Amino acid sequence: MLNCAVLGATGYTGAELTKLLLAHPHVRVSILTTRQEKAIPIEEILPSVSKKIKLQITPYSFDEVKKKADVVFLCLPHTEAMTVGDQFLNAGKVVIDLSADFRLKDPELYPKWYGVQHNFPARLKQAVYGLSEVNRAKIKKADLISNPGCYPTGPSLALIPLLKKKLINPDSIIINAASGVSGAGKKLVAATHFCEAHENFNAYKVNKHQHTPEIEQNLSQAAGKTVKITFVPHLLPISRGILATLYAEPTRQATEAKLRKVLISAYGDDVFIRIKPGGQFPSTKEVQHTNFCDIGLSVDTRTGRVVILTAIDNLVKGAAGQAVQNMNIRFGFPEEAGLL
Ligand SMILES: NC(=O)c1ccc[n+]([C@@H]2O[C@H](COP(=O)([O-])OP(=O)(O)OC[C@H]3O[C@@H](n4cnc5c(N)ncnc54)[C@H](OP(=O)(O)O)[C@@H]3O)[C@@H](O)[C@H]2O)c1
Repeated sequence: MLNCAVLGATGYTGAELTKLLLAHPHVRVSILTTRQEKAIPIEEILPSVSKKIKLQITPYSFDEVKKKADVVFLCLPHTEAMTVGDQFLNAGKVVIDLSADFRLKDPELYPKWYGVQHNFPARLKQAVYGLSEVNRAKIKKADLISNPGCYPTGPSLALIPLLKKKLINPDSIIINAASGVSGAGKKLVAATHFCEAHENFNAYKVNKHQHTPEIEQNLSQAAGKTVKITFVPHLLPISRGILATLYAEPTRQATEAKLRKVLISAYGDDVFIRIKPGGQFPSTKEVQHTNFCDIGLSVDTRTGRVVILTAIDNLVKGAAGQAVQNMNIRFGFPEEAGLL
């Protein structure tokens, strides 16, 4: 049994991850931690948990985690995870970080997009970006897995195979995406209060969202050149789920059938990616509480644009589920273990 620690287990991704790990056939949840001073019974955070599970979420202690865990999941706010991640790597642990602290290769991007200097630039070189279906071979050998952001996951999965085959113009990409409120985490923020979010639909951080450079990094690697995108995130008054609508210009040889065929052949053997048939498009409801990423597309010959839609559950494929998938890949478990 692999021993797992979840740091930040009281938060949305930490609780979701704990739930998945508790149901996983090959791992044991050996320690859950909080910054709070008193231990918290697990049922306060996960009311659905069986009463046979006697775990507590305990005040954070580096030494306790080091003693009890083989793999350490960081479900901490970005900028908090980098120091802790570095410490557990020095202690010989495998670290799977759900924050953004190890996602970007260029340390110069952190002051601009996250408002902080990166204190461990060498770790950025070491980190393997955990987009499971794309980076499987590298994830197998990684000690530091940087789990992708919720917004970048769907668009990157859809666009990477098409850019690699040069079937869309890399300079033409626009992404509109709408996320459920859990995407903002559990902490109190005025914009996510019930009275603000309910019956509302608004864009935020237009052209300024911190996931922009992460998506651009993924797409640039696939295109073999620098890609800049227009990215407009929206807050959707549902608890969980992200629907992203991507607009791009197909290149001349790219018919709708060809684009779909390339996606099907890229992900044919991947259980968690489902390509919709022509005329069908994904929805958040169809992926809620699952690790699926659904993709649908339509080429409009009238306007010369392709419209691609992707849907994921931000807390599962966009966070905890993909983290478990990456753990499965890293430790040689069946990739879908604990996830289907
Ligand atoms: N929400 C999503 O859809 C999503 C998706 C992908 C990635 N992520 C990333 O995953 C990480 C966790 O996100 P989340 O949504 O789970 O956040 P969250 O609900 O706010 O939980 C974060 C947890 O971290 C702990 N914590 C430790 N130091 C903290 C500090 N200085 N300030 C605030 N909390 C601190 C808190 O637990 P205690 O108070 O008990 O210590 C808190 O419950 C973030 O980096 C986020 O960007 C989130």
